[in-house]
Amino acid sequence: MATTVGTESDFKDLVTNLIYLEHDAIAAYDSTIEKLSDPSLSQQVIQFRDDHQQHLRVLRDIAAQSGATSPNEGDMKQMLTTGKIALANLMGDGAILKAMKTNEDDTVTAYERARDHQDAIPASREFFAKALADEQRHREWMQGTSGQL
Ligand SMILES: [Fe+2]
Ligand SMILES: [Fe+2]
Repeated sequence: MATTVGTESDFKDLVTNLIYLEHDAIAAYDSTIEKLSDPSLSQQVIQFRDDHQQHLRVLRDIAAQSGATSPNEGDMKQMLTTGKIALANLMGDGAILKAMKTNEDDTVTAYERARDHQDAIPASREFFAKALADEQRHREWMQGTSGQL
């Protein structure tokens, strides 16, 4: 199922759901890194996970400034098309990266919507645009690399 994150009318709900989404994404990255058999692929995916950890830090700041609820890891929700449980059942680097590409579709969609949200202040809009560019770069790599495996 495609993500609904970004369709929230309230800016605070948007920020809270982006935090859920990032937690879920980081968990999916953890599983991916653990499961990939080619270390050079894991190396690249670790760098992408760093981007997500940075996104999470900025989102927490935005939440603190805007009064949005900042959920913790324990409040995990299934926000992605292929969460960590589904990933754990996949075999083969190509299949894993292909599944991760579906997750990047979700994060790209969510940050596109966030960037265009009418209540986003300029500083948060700038961050959403940067996060969007990161997710697009991740998606391109997942797609290109899975296609070669
Ligand atoms: Fe992210
Ligand atoms: Fe990503």
